[in-house]
Amino acid sequence: MTAHVLDAALHAARRARVLSALAPDGVMILPAAPELRVGRDLELRYQPDPDLYYLTGYTEPEAVAVLAPFRTDAPFTLFVRPRDPEREVWTGPRGGTDAALAVFGADEAYPIAELPERLPGIIAEAGTVYFRLGTGRDDVEALVRTSLIRAQRGRQREGRGPRTLVDPGAILDDMRIFKDAHEIELLREAARITMDAFREAAPRIRPGAGEWELEAALDAGFRRRGATGPAFPTIVAAGANATVLHYTDNAAPLEAGQLLLMDAGARYRMYCGDISRTFPISGAFAPAQRDVYDAVLAAHDAAIALVRPGNTVEQVHEAALRVALAALIELGVLRGTVDELLEKKEEYHPFLPHRTSHWLGLDVHDVGDYKTAGEPRRLEPGMVLTVEPGIYLPAAHEAVPTALRGTGIRIEDDVLVTPSGHEVLTAALPTAAADVEAMLRG
Ligand code: GLY
Ligand code: MN
Ligand code: MN
Repeated sequence: MTAHVLDAALHAARRARVLSALAPDGVMILPAAPELRVGRDLELRYQPDPDLYYLTGYTEPEAVAVLAPFRTDAPFTLFVRPRDPEREVWTGPRGGTDAALAVFGADEAYPIAELPERLPGIIAEAGTVYFRLGTGRDDVEALVRTSLIRAQRGRQREGRGPRTLVDPGAILDDMRIFKDAHEIELLREAARITMDAFREAAPRIRPGAGEWELEAALDAGFRRRGATGPAFPTIVAAGANATVLHYTDNAAPLEAGQLLLMDAGARYRMYCGDISRTFPISGAFAPAQRDVYDAVLAAHDAAIALVRPGNTVEQVHEAALRVALAALIELGVLRGTVDELLEKKEEYHPFLPHRTSHWLGLDVHDVGDYKTAGEPRRLEPGMVLTVEPGIYLPAAHEAVPTALRGTGIRIEDDVLVTPSGHEVLTAALPTAAADVEAMLRG
């Protein structure tokens, strides 16, 4: 399994950038995401924390990375789970402090149990503490909090101590939003695996099959190709279920005449794919369905056409929104002109409830601001975003023509911003109605 391949030099280069971007008296504290337990003693498969992974490549639970440029002998310290032969029999090998030093390049490494005695001293020496609140690592958060309070009280006497608490995202988000060549390669592979799994699953779509069968086919397709699994709970939504944006029950049978919306993505070596396609379960779109499908596709194409350096995610969204609004007016679902409706979000929101794009990377909804200084941020080469317009026609809405009540259509692709425009990483999976129908035939 190719779950994690360490490129230590890559993570070291990223740490060097962070160390030079931190305030000279700053300390960044990055705890690994907590392990999730369900029931009495069941641990879910561990999902490493993206920020910690980005800077260290470390994938074991409980680790805490400490980056502090003022600690000139040890700017990079790792606190890790120690070796534990007894536990390792159950859950596999641990690297312990030896691997933290020799493999992951830490200047100092300590067992995690030593964090409470070592971290307060480091915080007391710092002027700025970069730590994110509310991530679920309550033990580390409580320690940072008490250390900060104590250090701030001592400031008057000691003449030093932290005054400022900063979100690490102030530095890391702007690094992570620009994907380097290595990341683009992994995103390409996540996209390829996702496309292949969609292609493989599509012929299983037929009346009488279950949403769960398609979920199984997609997730198996990801795993078979070396992905760690789905990047988010796979959405397989037949008929009106597709009007629930993050429907994950996947428990209904597929009925003739319905559409099936599948939204899924592989996670490959930590990086995410995210694709949506909408299929006619009986093999061909009915004319009324086809009109809405073509409108969503036109919105998708218009939005992607605007992905290039200098444009904004806002412009990409508005392009999709204009096409979708025109279609809803044509259907008689909305009244007025596109320009009028653009200002009346409350009127179109029931049918167009989500925005068109999000950043994509280590997180499915990846980090990075969509606005800077209150203004929509301009796209730049190396950014990766989804383009995923959808039109949703709720079953209970009387403005919706009867034949279309309970219809949800979304078409989603993953797009890299290039110096000259864009590259659709998922372009090899067709979107045109006739091609989507052909995919059902295998
Ligand atoms: N599947 C979640 C999303 O498309 O954003
Ligand atoms: Mn999606
Ligand atoms: Mn998405």
